[in-house]
Amino acid sequence: MTMSDWVDAISVDEIDEEDVLRWDHDGRTFALYHAPGGSFYCTDGLCTHEQVHLAGGLVMDHIIECPKHNGQFDYRTGAAKRAPVCVNLRTYPVRVEGDRVLVQVG
Ligand code: FES
Repeated sequence: MTMSDWVDAISVDEIDEEDVLRWDHDGRTFALYHAPGGSFYCTDGLCTHEQVHLAGGLVMDHIIECPKHNGQFDYRTGAAKRAPVCVNLRTYPVRVEGDRVLVQVG
């Protein structure tokens, strides 16, 4: 792991609490989440069921619900939580420095 793995993604005020934002970087699509209580998380941006952008979905507590077939994931762990999704999402470490959200895209 090197410092260069960390990418300055967004400002902390770009996502309201309990919301999600699409973030594209280096030809890849991610989803960034602002959890209740102020923590940030990052997952792959596309649903593992049919490659739909999760940022168009609904955030409820620590769950992201896919906008297409309402499959659900826990965005903290990437765990698939409700059919039809059965493959977990990949997650990425996030840290906050000042007012910036950094993601270790690996
Ligand atoms: S595309 Fe996400 S649940 Fe089907």
